[in-house]
This record gives sequence, structure tokens and C-alpha cells, in this order.
Amino acid sequence: MESKRAKVFAASAVVSLLVLLVVLWICLGPSTTSYIVSGLVFAAILAILAWVLTLYTALDRMQMSAARWSALEREELRVEYSFLRKVAGLPIKFRLDDLVVATDNFQALVGRGSSASVFRGILDDGTPVAVKRIEAAERGDREFRSEVSAIASIQHVNLVRLLGYCIVPAGPKFLVYEFVANGSLDNWIFPSARKDHDGRRRCLPWAMRYRAAVDVAKALSYLHHDCRARVLHLDVKPENILLDEGFRAVVADFGLSKLMGKDESRVVTTIRGTRGYLAPEWIIGSGVSDKSDIYSYGMVLLEMVGGRRSVQLVDGDVASRRKWSYFPQIVSEKVRQGRMMEVVDERLKSVEGPPDEEEVRTLVHVALWCIQEKAETRPSMARVVDMLEGRIAVDDDPPKPDMIISSLLSPEPDVFDEAGAKDTHAAAAGMLELDTQSATTYSLDVSSILSAR
Ligand SMILES: Nc1ncnc2c1ncn2[C@@H]1O[C@H](COP(=O)(O)OP(=O)(O)OP(=O)(O)O)[C@@H](O)[C@H]1O
Ligand SMILES: [Mg+2]
Repeated sequence: MESKRAKVFAASAVVSLLVLLVVLWICLGPSTTSYIVSGLVFAAILAILAWVLTLYTALDRMQMSAARWSALEREELRVEYSFLRKVAGLPIKFRLDDLVVATDNFQALVGRGSSASVFRGILDDGTPVAVKRIEAAERGDREFRSEVSAIASIQHVNLVRLLGYCIVPAGPKFLVYEFVANGSLDNWIFPSARKDHDGRRRCLPWAMRYRAAVDVAKALSYLHHDCRARVLHLDVKPENILLDEGFRAVVADFGLSKLMGKDESRVVTTIRGTRGYLAPEWIIGSGVSDKSDIYSYGMVLLEMVGGRRSVQLVDGDVASRRKWSYFPQIVSEKVRQGRMMEVVDERLKSVEGPPDEEEVRTLVHVALWCIQEKAETRPSMARVVDMLEGRIAVDDDPPKPDMIISSLLSPEPDVFDEAGAKDTHAAAAGMLELDTQSATTYSLDVSSILSAR
């Protein structure tokens, strides 16, 4: 505005002076007075031009320094913002180039799941990271959103930390996690060819298994009870539990997670879990709740005790007549017969003598309560933590497993004649075939009932 007014003023002054000069020349003609007045008029015009020039230079300088200030201010704000995000532990945005450099062009694969590959990397500042590249297009998108919305703003020592993310338009999506040094629990509790740092076959000692069980329970208890919105993990299994350098457990992989209002009791979602860990209410489509995580957790506990999968293929080539061994049923029977120690992972006994019987009893009883068919009879995760840490007594004598799967797998054909059993389990019936030869071997169409992804 200022500069516009100055421009108008200067232009009208110059025009007036020129008009004055012309009038003078017409009236006086070439004379000494005309020459003197013309000289004065030209001097005045030059003075006006010099004033305008100075004014413009000063204005220009002011504008430039204002722009520089606002750029500086913006940069300062940006630095402050990312510093605050970092301090608050909130995920930051990475560029694809950063991730390519960090992972040496995605060289070191550390794990692969159903929708993603995970690579080891090191950031500029030396932080070791695990970069998860989500490949599946539509499902990947959904899993990326679930994962970010579930853990972007929550923090717990037993939950994996999300450091950042990267979105490539029309390409894969990346999640950048802290690197968890000892990988997933399945490699440490199930017999495998993998060796530990000393070249021995990996086998997690009993004390560490028990501690990992408590760590996972605390993480789930935090998700279920202490976050603003209840977070359901919905994919609790050994592959999604990681062990850090001190063998403390952290829960990872929130690709299937759901947020649930504190006043909601169930949410309906499509079946997407992993075979062997899916709660019955999910299979029959009556909605999931925090109790569905508790069911999966119970299955994991039994696997940690036994060093074997809860549902394990025993034999059979033809898909329709495959035989499966169902560990919860075996454990339940052994507990009833007073032979509970027989279900403990044999390798544990040979390495460091038999584990503490009281601790085994605690884990087994808690696990059997967690895998009750009726969701409401399962304990809350907070209660599980209290039982595992000895603050409250473990509920005694868990009822005989009466779950959809175990009932249908029962070798006793007349179990289906019990009142109501047939109706209750009608939804799942027809997907199973019974094999009455053995108490621990069952035949079922696992692909449909246990719903692999
Ligand atoms: N932060 C990490 N540090 C070390 N290893 C990791 C980390 N995150 C994942 N992994 C490894 O990568 C594997 C796959 O990761 P993740 O479970 O996140 O993938 P997914 O495709 O979502 O799996 P799922 O099949 O369960 O959906 C894990 O089982 C684990 O072995
Ligand atoms: Mg996983």
C-alpha cells in the first residue's frame, strides 16, 4: 500500500513538473529564465526518481528479511515439532531413500509374515531398526492403518516401539520399528535347527519362559485396561512375541488389531487370525472382545510349557483325513490324572533339571482358565498378571475344556448327545470329522475350522 501511494505521488509530481515546463516554454520561449526553470525542473525530477529508488530498495530489503525470518521460524518450528515427537515417542516420517540406505537396499531379511517382510537396518544416528515392508495391496493397507493407529501413541516396555513410517505412492508401505535382538519366541520354544550364540540348539530356559509369560500378560493388560481406547491385539501367537537382548518379551505385529470403546463389549470383525489361536466366539462369528486375546494368550502359555504347538499335525496325507494332536486336551487330562509334569517340554528337564512344579502348575492352570469356551469365564488380563506374580491365588481346578474345538474333537462320540452340546456347536459342526481311535489324535478340516489366513 505504502509503495503504491509513493508510486502515484512520484508519477503525478513528475507529470506536473513536465506540464509546468511545457507551459513555461510556450509562454516565455527560449530565454534565460526558461533555461533556469528547466534546470530546476530536471533537478526536481531526478530528486523524485532518486527518492523512489531509495524507497524501493529499502522496501525490498524489508520484504526479504521478513521472508527470511518466516523461513527461519518455520524451520525452527519443524525442528521443535520433530524433537517433541521424538521425545514423546511418536513415529516420524521417513523418506524411502533413508530406508534404502539404512537397510543397505533391503538386504538382511529377519522375518517374513503373511503380509510383510522385515529387514534389519541401522539409522544415521546408529539406532538398529527393523523395517517392515507391507506388500499385500488392499489387506496391506488395512494392516498398515491398524498397526499405526494401535501403537502410534501408546508406550509400554513390553510393546514393540514404532519409530516411524514411510508411504510410497502406489507402492509398498513401510513401518520402522526398534530392532528386537533375539527375534520371535517361536524360535526359542519349539524345537528347531536354529542355534543360539554359543552354538547350542535354541531352547529358552524355564525361568525365562515364565518371565516372558508375565511380560506378555502385562503388555496385554496395558492394552486392555490402561489405554484410552481398549486395544485388542487379535493375533497373539509366538511369532508375534519378540525377545530383546535380555530375553524380555515384547508384543509386536498389530496388523489385525482393533480399537474398542471402553463401553463396548464386543466388536464384529471378519475372521483373520491364525489357526490354533482363534477364540471360539470369533470362529462362530459372534464378535470379538479382550477375552479373545486372553484365549490366544492361554494357547501360547500352553505352548511355552510344552514346547510344542497347541494344534499339531500328527500324520495323514489326504487333507480330509489328516490327524491332529490337540495339546490343551492332553494337558487337561494329565492335570486331572495328577501327572501334570509330563506335559512339560522334555528339553527343559534335560538342560537344567525339572522346572519348579509350583510355577508349572500356575502357568498351566492360568492357561486352562484362559482357554475356556465361554468368554465370560476367562479371567481378565489384569487378573492373569496378579495370578502369575503371586498377588492372588491361582483359581483352582479349571473346568474340563468344553470348547467348540475340543468337544468336537472329543474321541467320545456320545459327547454330542449331551444336552445342548449339539446345538451350541452346530455352527462349527460339519467342518469336523471325528477319529475315535485315540484320545489325542483327531481328524478335522483345519483349513475351515481353525481358519488359517
Ligand atoms: N522389531 C522387530 N525386531 C526383530 N524382528 C522382527 C521385528 N518385527 C518383526 N520381526 C520378525 O519378522 C517376522 C514377521 O513380522 P510381523 O509379524 O510383523 O509380520 P506379519 O506379516 O504381520 O506377520 P503375520 O503373518 O503374523 O501377519 C516376526 O515373526 C519376527 O520374526
Ligand atoms: Mg506376525
